[in-house]
This record gives sequence, structure tokens and C-alpha cells, in this order.
Amino acid sequence: MASLHPPLGFGLGLRVDHYEAILADNPEVDWFEALTENYLVPGGKPLDYLMRVRERYPMVLHGVSLSIGSTQPLDRTYLAQLKALAARVEPEWVSDHLCWTGIAGRNMHDLLPLPYTEEALANVVERVRTVQDILGRRILLENVSSYVTYRDSQATEWQFLREIAERADCLILLDVNNIYVSSVNHEFDPLDYLSAIPVDRVQQIHLAGHENHGDYLIDTHDHPVPDPVWELYGAALRRFGNVSTMIERDANIPPLEELCSELDAARQLAARTLARAA
Ligand SMILES: [Fe+2]
Repeated sequence: MASLHPPLGFGLGLRVDHYEAILADNPEVDWFEALTENYLVPGGKPLDYLMRVRERYPMVLHGVSLSIGSTQPLDRTYLAQLKALAARVEPEWVSDHLCWTGIAGRNMHDLLPLPYTEEALANVVERVRTVQDILGRRILLENVSSYVTYRDSQATEWQFLREIAERADCLILLDVNNIYVSSVNHEFDPLDYLSAIPVDRVQQIHLAGHENHGDYLIDTHDHPVPDPVWELYGAALRRFGNVSTMIERDANIPPLEELCSELDAARQLAARTLARAA
């Protein structure tokens, strides 16, 4: 059994547009998730804002550069920077994505899916263990959305994620929107995904919106959370119970009050669902 961090409640992604409003208004947000890569350089304004928000709120760090699925050597410089940032911020936890982000030294600036093979599994498991040894803590890996699959895959994404978490002894950041997006794009039942994920590994949930193109969806994170994602979140709550949940908005960022009222909707849905389940 993995021991999970006690739930933090309902959080938001920390975005530059909201720095001043957060510091001025102390909004009713239980915690913030900061994007690791924005704060890796010691000193300067971004880190100053981060630390001022950190003084008032619990915080977690969320990265996009680990490239845990790559076959290139781990970026030790990045890991040292991340470790130094974590020592300064003292986040509740650190997360990144189950993906690869480049090849031959080139960063594609995209979170690319893996082939679900035994070979890829062994590679990721070994890398997660190394990263966890270096950082001296368990990490959370997040499921990404995808638009292609590999002919070589021998397992489903949910089987692959589960195996990695169990073999590498890491935790899971479940992005409910990403599951929904991929379920439409690849025509699977998102409930099959949820029911395969071990309850004792899910430490955080992401909620977000996407762009609907009819027969496929794009994970743009620039819309409010849509109804099918709320519905799937309800199913996730019934399976995983009270899990730290946050709304992730990366573009088309609305005023802070608007995100806070969307977060309230998540709070209320969780309260209703968990009360009914109890
Ligand atoms: Fe996410």
C-alpha cells in the first residue's frame, strides 16, 4: 500500500495573471499548483511572487520537462534545479507527466504518449526510481491526452499507468479531462480507465476544459470544465473518495473570481457525491 498525503481540498494552477489578485484578496483557494519551469532560475520576480504566495497557501510543483518516457539520459541539471526549488518551496508534492517530450536533444514542447510495451514500461520504471532517489521523495505522474496510438502497444494506457505506479512505487495525478479527451479520440469507455487505477495511488486530480471538433477533442485547457468532464469527475470521486482537486487553465485565462466560482462548483459536486457515497 502506498500512503497518500492527506487531501488538500480544492486548488488552482498559479498563473502570472493572478499574482496581484491573490496577494491582494487572499481568495478562498485551499492550495496552488505552480509550474516548476517558471521558477527554476534563482532570484528574480517570478520566484519572489511564488514565495509570497507560498507563505499564505500550501503548494505543489508541477513540471513538464522530466520526459520520463524518453530513452535519452535523464537531464541531471534539470533534476538538480528541481531539487533546489523543492528545498526552497517545500511543496506538498512534486509531479510531472507520463510522456516523452523530445528526441536527439530537441524539445518538441509537447507531451507525447508512449507505446504501451514491456520495454517502455521497464524503461520508465527504472527512470522513476532514479528520479525518486535523486529527489528523495515519491513523485506523481499524470496521464496525458493523446491523438495517436502505436501499433506496437500490447496494453491499454490504464494498464500501463497502473503497472508503472506499482512497480516504481510512485503516485498518480489523474487528469479527468485528459481521460475524457482520449476516450473520445480512441473510443474507449472512460469508466474502464477509472476502475483499473489503484485507489491508493491517486493523490491529485486535474479538471480542465477542451476543444470539441466533433469526432475528436483537443486538450486545450482554455475552456471551463464541460459537463462530460464534471460527470466523469463524479465517477472518480465515487471510486477514489476525497482527493485533492484543482482546475487547470493554461490559456484564455479568466479573472480569478471566475475560476474561484468554477472551483466552488467542484467543491459542491464533491460534497454532494461524497455525502451520497457515505
Ligand atoms: Fe493536467
